Amino acid sequence: MQLEQCKYICTTYKNDKRTNMKRISLVLVLLVVQLSAMAGEGMWLPQLLQMLNEKDMKMQGMKIGVADIYNVNKGSLKDAIVSLGGFCTAEVISDQGLLLTNHHCGFDAIQNHSSLANNYIRDGFWSKNKNEELTNPGLTATFIVRILDVTAVLTANLTATSESERQSQIDKNINELKKTVAKESWQEAMVKPMFDGNKYFLFVTETYKDVRLVGAPPSSIGNFGKDTDNWMWPRHTGDFSLFRIYAGKDNKPADYSPENVPYKPKRSLKISLDGVDEDDFTMVFGFPGRTTEYLPSAAVAQIMNITDPAKVSIRAKALGIMDEYMRSNEEIKIQYATKYAKIENYHKKWSGEMMGLKLSDAVGKKMAYEAGFQKRIDANKDWKARYGSLLTDLNAAHKAIEPFAFARDYYTEVVGKIELFNTANQLYSMVTAFDKGGESAYKLAAIKAGGVLQETFAELNTTVDKELFEKLIIMYLKNMQPKFVAPTLSAVAAKMNNDIKAMTDSIYAASFLDDSASVRALFGMKPQVAVEKLKADMVIALIADMQRSYAAQVGTQLNPLQNSINNLQRQYMKAQMEVFTEKNFYPDANGTLRVTYGKVKGYEPKDALKYNYYTYMEGLMQKYVPGDYEFDVPAKLIDLYNKKDFGQYGTKGRQTVCFIATNHTTGGNSGSPALDAYGNLIGLNFDRVWEGTMSDINYDSRICRNIMVDIRYVAFIIDKFAGAKNIVDELKFVHPKKIRS
Ligand code: ARG
Ligand code: GLU
Repeated sequence: MQLEQCKYICTTYKNDKRTNMKRISLVLVLLVVQLSAMAGEGMWLPQLLQMLNEKDMKMQGMKIGVADIYNVNKGSLKDAIVSLGGFCTAEVISDQGLLLTNHHCGFDAIQNHSSLANNYIRDGFWSKNKNEELTNPGLTATFIVRILDVTAVLTANLTATSESERQSQIDKNINELKKTVAKESWQEAMVKPMFDGNKYFLFVTETYKDVRLVGAPPSSIGNFGKDTDNWMWPRHTGDFSLFRIYAGKDNKPADYSPENVPYKPKRSLKISLDGVDEDDFTMVFGFPGRTTEYLPSAAVAQIMNITDPAKVSIRAKALGIMDEYMRSNEEIKIQYATKYAKIENYHKKWSGEMMGLKLSDAVGKKMAYEAGFQKRIDANKDWKARYGSLLTDLNAAHKAIEPFAFARDYYTEVVGKIELFNTANQLYSMVTAFDKGGESAYKLAAIKAGGVLQETFAELNTTVDKELFEKLIIMYLKNMQPKFVAPTLSAVAAKMNNDIKAMTDSIYAASFLDDSASVRALFGMKPQVAVEKLKADMVIALIADMQRSYAAQVGTQLNPLQNSINNLQRQYMKAQMEVFTEKNFYPDANGTLRVTYGKVKGYEPKDALKYNYYTYMEGLMQKYVPGDYEFDVPAKLIDLYNKKDFGQYGTKGRQTVCFIATNHTTGGNSGSPALDAYGNLIGLNFDRVWEGTMSDINYDSRICRNIMVDIRYVAFIIDKFAGAKNIVDELKFVHPKKIRS
């Protein structure tokens, strides 16, 4: 490992005169640490906890057995956890199916019920009784009934020689398996690959389809600090909202009906009012979306040096342009708010990721790990025959894909930020549908495109879009290899002497795609006529050529390379598990139910900077900027704060807001419950600290922290701020620490 690169890890050793000894032992320590998953690291499958984690969890402070977490024979904690709509996690917190999740997870529902007269985004929403709860067509809550290892059945008869053939054989086997698996008529089965396709697990699920909005705080609480505070610690956001699962009279899943009744859960979470102390055991139960923890060093270097910087620079440019217009124009600010927040969220995440990977010398760590791997491989004849060149091949394949991965990310990021192209993509899908499948296919495509475009135009300002087009196309032409740029685009640019501003003006003047009335009119025309009109538009011609040339120049190389990487990565994963038998492996996140556990802990992101693990309302008031878009605080909350009216939710005259711990979480864990050693609810997960967002690739227990709202702040807002006694009455509060001490 390059010690000069090891800025974060080595700070405390820098001034030590006996550095050499210390450095050597530090390297050894790091190698050992690498081999056993670090404290806090891991997103574990709940059905395997007993085999892999129970001992360690108890050593870390857990007081219950893992049979209380996952049990197929009786109600266990897993029966209180749902995947909310497939994008977030939520948990049951009352025996009447009350669900707790994040404000940003419920935001779409809150927005859909909001109007100028009932501005629930701004003012919050609290149902006073069940009749006032609001329905959300399409929103679902999915429970996991049981999880089975089906690797043997799915892989027994594989004869494929190519990666794509293997996938289609597996898909066929999955379809067969789903037909025969034992489950009730209202249940579903889903199969997911784990460990890069070395294992397959089947999940029997129950999906409830009537999920109603019960309550949400105003955005000035639920999204306090907005983009400025996003991914940041210290944090003061009450990021929560409440829903309720409704079931048929038999308590089974049912489509929405006014006759439906509140769901009676097998298990609901009790709420601890005791708060946390440093080093307390915590676990987070939920549905993390995607991680890549087992990549080889070349892939990590590529993310850090090539693809993340490319994506971040494009987004920074786009955000700068949008921000300038949003600041000077109220209408644009509203129109672009959601779009801006979405682009900003991952812009910030990736920039934190790049920084964290550098600071923790993730590439150096991977290389040290790989050296240890290779040493063991080379020492064993059988392994050497099977895996001898595996790492070299895998790293080489990542090097080979690099220019194409860059082109893929550049294309997707640039084209996706320009609404003229998004519109063109939608409309062009109608053209191809017509050419391939005639009028009926066209009509289907038109229904889909029409829905998307309605929202596109509602949130479009052509001046902003034109500037985005101009500035991003300048970047595109400058940074894309010429062979990856569509000939039509290069030709138009050349024709305008590479004056991209003039080119942009002429394109927008010539096309009708930026004009909502003309686009709307298309949908009233006969398909044949609309298609001809579209084919004559220059932006349609441009996007068609961009798609074609991307497929020909990038896709034809990228896809086979990706297939070979997938194949090598599967072997590498298998080999790691074979070689490092002393190490516990967890599968990368893939949207399935996982448990992560760790400890409440502050952290030191930089030299001389130390963060505490709790935030208090004092900090919220320090951030308060009256009337501000991000940092306003509701008058009632200020009043409660001034009177120190925290009820049973405060502690020693103060009200906590958020806390952090070493739990290993990612996107999709939003809304996940944080539980104490007894399985009581202590917090609601909603974010990670900026310096630790690299945990998707390289978890490091020194700087990776998940951020949770203290459950007592949630209860304080429901009770004292909203006065929602009807909701408080459903909650079951406990004092695990007081009883036991
Ligand atoms: N960073 C969190 C997550 O990845 C919260 C995002 C919502 N909040 C926001 N200010 N955009 O999803
Ligand atoms: N905010 C994220 C989500 O929506 C969770 C934060 C993270 O990525 O850990 O799932």
